[in-house]
Amino acid sequence: MSRKLNVAIVGLGFGAEFIPIYQRHPHANMYAICQRNPEKLDAIGKAFGVDKRYASFEDLLKDPNVDAVHINSPIHLHASQAIAALRAGKHVACTVPACTTVEEAREIVKAAKESGKTYMMMETVVWSREYLYVRELRDTGRLGRIQFVRGSHLQNMQGWPGYWEGLPPMHYATHCVSPCLGIVNGEAEYVSCFGSGRISEDRIAKYGSPFAFESAHFKVRNQDVAGEVTRYLFDTARQYKESFDCYGSQTSFEWQLVEHDDPVLHVGGEKVEKVKIPDYGHLLPEGIRDFTTKCVYDMAENQHLSFIQGSGHGGSHPHLAHEFVTSVLEGRQSFPDLYQSVNWTLVGILAHESAMRGGEKIYVPNFRGV
Ligand SMILES: NC(=O)c1ccc[n+]([C@@H]2O[C@H](COP(=O)([O-])OP(=O)(O)OC[C@H]3O[C@@H](n4cnc5c(N)ncnc54)[C@H](O)[C@@H]3O)[C@@H](O)[C@H]2O)c1
Repeated sequence: MSRKLNVAIVGLGFGAEFIPIYQRHPHANMYAICQRNPEKLDAIGKAFGVDKRYASFEDLLKDPNVDAVHINSPIHLHASQAIAALRAGKHVACTVPACTTVEEAREIVKAAKESGKTYMMMETVVWSREYLYVRELRDTGRLGRIQFVRGSHLQNMQGWPGYWEGLPPMHYATHCVSPCLGIVNGEAEYVSCFGSGRISEDRIAKYGSPFAFESAHFKVRNQDVAGEVTRYLFDTARQYKESFDCYGSQTSFEWQLVEHDDPVLHVGGEKVEKVKIPDYGHLLPEGIRDFTTKCVYDMAENQHLSFIQGSGHGGSHPHLAHEFVTSVLEGRQSFPDLYQSVNWTLVGILAHESAMRGGEKIYVPNFRGV
């Protein structure tokens, strides 16, 4: 590959973490940054040496030099910005979740198919070192047959920007859904979810969502595997946990109960080993390897709150940027691909709908072949 992809990052809170990674990627050119506040835009542009700056997303899309946009704006803008970018002929990487409704998911698929451009949801968990470790167990046959998958994402989001307050927990479920479906390389067929408990009345008023917890089961399409995911966001006393368990016929992987402990392998039956998860920086080009463990993460004053709660997202950021850039330049499907991206998001959206309807079973639209 000799070409370099001109990347523009939109949204510079969490999004700024990716600037130095694209700057050092051998096949990316960190071309432009975009956010609405011009002072902050200039401050970040100066700090990282990015000269092309846009305070308007619409103006950014008119720039013919932009090959790809990486969207890191607030949740309610993800789908509309992704659709507009695809329609403007740009490849799109979008942070989670991909969308907030089934209609938006349908429009993303339509825009991506019509434009022929790549759409990839930048799900950190499926490029975390823990996920890559379980993937290795799967690919080397150590797991055996995958029998069941389970994820949880337990997080107290008090103090985050206002649009998070009262958000239905399952509207941000990709971190627990994605590893479950990623490891079986699948998509969900249907989902059923129960809500439990009650958050404060002022929070309920924001999105009309009363539950403290939402717990869902889903069936994997065309496979005899099911999964379970659990989420809370407010008014519950529990340390942060973004976990993933995978039960195999030979070996099972279970996440630790508390942060900074080690996960456990159940080998055969009663034999249990704690595992030190290796780092997978060696899979990356030399220039961005260090970003799995340091560099951006070491700059304490610049650290995004999600790193502190999420333990640096398992070193996933350089893997995500690399997967996006190389899938575009090689003309191959990204992981996750378009259909996985919207399916994994819709599991959560429809799980919340199910919870609001007392656990009703809801089918996830199958956009493949549409
Ligand atoms: N592990 C993960 O995958 C992970 C972690 C943290 C955040 N995120 C996602 O990243 C997104 C951003 O999170 P954050 O905490 O940085 O949010 P934030 O609200 O702090 O920052 C949002 C950014 O988007 C910009 N923005 C808003 N409207 C815009 C517009 N119309 N055009 C251009 N820019 C616009 C803002 O100026 C700001 O720079 C969220 O949607 C969240 O889901 C993902």
